[in-house]
Amino acid sequence: MNEKIYLDHAATTPIRPEVIDVMTDVMKHNFGNPSSIHSFGRKAHKQLTEMRKIIANSLSVKEHEIIFNSGGTESDNTAIISTALFRKDLGKHIITTAIEHHAVLHSMEYLEKNFGFEVTYLPVDEHGNLNIEDFNKSLREDTILVSIMYGNNEIGNLMPIKEIGELLENHPAYFHTDAVQAYGLVDIRPHELGIDLLSVSAHKLNGPKGVGFLYKNDAILLPEFMHGGEQEEKRRAGTENLIGITGMGKAVELLTDDEKHARAAHYANYQAIILDSLEKAEIEYHINGDVKNKLPHVLNLYLPGVNSDLLLMSMDLKGIALSTGSACTAGTVDPSHVLIALYGENHPAIKESIRISFGYGNTEEAITTFTGELVTAIQRLKK
Ligand SMILES: Cc1ncc(COP(=O)(O)O)c(C=O)c1O
Repeated sequence: MNEKIYLDHAATTPIRPEVIDVMTDVMKHNFGNPSSIHSFGRKAHKQLTEMRKIIANSLSVKEHEIIFNSGGTESDNTAIISTALFRKDLGKHIITTAIEHHAVLHSMEYLEKNFGFEVTYLPVDEHGNLNIEDFNKSLREDTILVSIMYGNNEIGNLMPIKEIGELLENHPAYFHTDAVQAYGLVDIRPHELGIDLLSVSAHKLNGPKGVGFLYKNDAILLPEFMHGGEQEEKRRAGTENLIGITGMGKAVELLTDDEKHARAAHYANYQAIILDSLEKAEIEYHINGDVKNKLPHVLNLYLPGVNSDLLLMSMDLKGIALSTGSACTAGTVDPSHVLIALYGENHPAIKESIRISFGYGNTEEAITTFTGELVTAIQRLKK
């Protein structure tokens, strides 16, 4: 096998050629500072405005509600820490889940340790689903923020965002959702869902790294996140990353509703090919998460008796990229906090699970090749 096969799109994605083209064009022909008043600045500002329009349209929100920044981690930190510190006199209780990305969980720990906030980490069941009753019971008068992800990065599970939005309709808590994994595949309308703050990152959508945005509902109050110039209406100072923002805008423009639906159909087919081959080879597997309630690009498999580190290494030797969980914990021996939330600390699934994530550039042929290699490796490694 010569061609490498990349199946770790939940960690990051390749940049589409059309995106590279527009970024290159900005690098060559539009280097002005969007805040400058001369023609160079005006040209850059026009580009910035156009990108903001594309992104605002993708969520059916106002342009003014999009704040460009450096990506998912910054959006999560900003939404959580700014809200907490700004609203601390109204209450010090926050609700989140045990399966959030570390950008959320570590922001929560920071608030607990340094500012005396009380955080409720809602559990999920063994299928990775959140019980809306648990959420309802945890909601208090002094809850100032709810931060619950749209779709999980390790198992793909979708959280009950609509139901939470409805329960918060007459509650003063701000509602933040980390939509870093979901935005590229699901149509999201924050106003209809009662979402106040939403995090997005370009590198998960075939855009560049180090750029993203925070959607902030006009109706909620927050102070400026970064102090300095007047960029982003004084909310996030710093000269805008016009090259990155242009790449993100193009990536979003290419993600039409038709494209999102086509992707979901392809990924369902890829998943079926993989599961079918495992069944034909009589390999025992369990899907971590809920097949009926998950993002289509993530497939997390528990393969009893197969050490996931060894499996990943042997696939890597074949030029196939997979993961055991979130990229932030890859390279360290930390077990997945998401799988622990599903099964508890001592379950064998923690060491015997792999995450396959599909995306741009994958083909049925590549998936078939991958599946053949996967079956061979499992048969060799299985205890
Ligand atoms: C759900 C989720 N939130 C946040 C992030 C962090 O985004 P970024 O890499 O843009 O900082 C990631 C990336 O792995 C993610 O999957």
